[in-house]
Amino acid sequence: MRQLSQQLVATQEEERRKLSRELHDHVGQTLTGLRMELGRIERLRMPDNERFAAAVGEARSLVDDVVRTVRDLALGLRPSMLDDFGLQAALEWHVRDLTRRSDLAVALDISGDFADLSDQQKTCIYRVVQEALTNCVRHAKARRVTVGLSRTPAGLELHIADDGIGIEAGHSGQGLGLKGIEERVRELSGTMRIDTAAETGTTLHVALPLAARPEEASFARAAG
Ligand SMILES: Nc1ncnc2c1ncn2[C@@H]1O[C@H](COP(=O)(O)OP(=O)(O)O)[C@@H](O)[C@H]1O
Ligand SMILES: [Mg+2]
Repeated sequence: MRQLSQQLVATQEEERRKLSRELHDHVGQTLTGLRMELGRIERLRMPDNERFAAAVGEARSLVDDVVRTVRDLALGLRPSMLDDFGLQAALEWHVRDLTRRSDLAVALDISGDFADLSDQQKTCIYRVVQEALTNCVRHAKARRVTVGLSRTPAGLELHIADDGIGIEAGHSGQGLGLKGIEERVRELSGTMRIDTAAETGTTLHVALPLAARPEEASFARAAG
């Protein structure tokens, strides 16, 4: 079961990466072409045909709208920033994007250099933050959230703390989001803990060891 769900996480990530690239490269390029064609049509118009101009203008603004949606979708699926500019840039982008779309105030507190993290570790941190912040917006009725990421001698420490209503007893296991986080974290030999109370809100803690990559960890287990 465990192996199967690990495989599922990896497959899902690969699928998202492919979809994201396809959206960005193919759909994005085609829309850009369409926009250029509209420009050409505009230049072909008869003088004084206002309805024609208005229709082309409308079509152009629809295309612009779709271009924006596709870009957001592609970034949401798998921010190319994570691959191109690293974890910190990707997290900053995600937080900016989220605060643009919601009333949540998010403080991002990142200290340390994360360039040496494996792709899996970066992806894990990014997905945990993404899911936890989505939960804050969706469930917590929170006003403020702090995302803290730092290096410790043992590895990485991440927490996402909201000032919301807390998780109702028995609810934390009812969705797929927190379960998915737990699975991703366990796959990297990390630990996850949730502190929650109606008065103080919810804090999700994740710790990932840095020294042992998953293969090495299982090798060490086998050897020791
Ligand atoms: N930050 C939070 N504040 C309050 N409730 C939460 C929070 N995060 C999760 N929950 C509760 O835990 C449940 C499970 O969360 P999750 O596994 O992410 O699934 P989903 O978001 O799909 O419902 C949510 O439905 C919600 O009731
Ligand atoms: Mg969720």
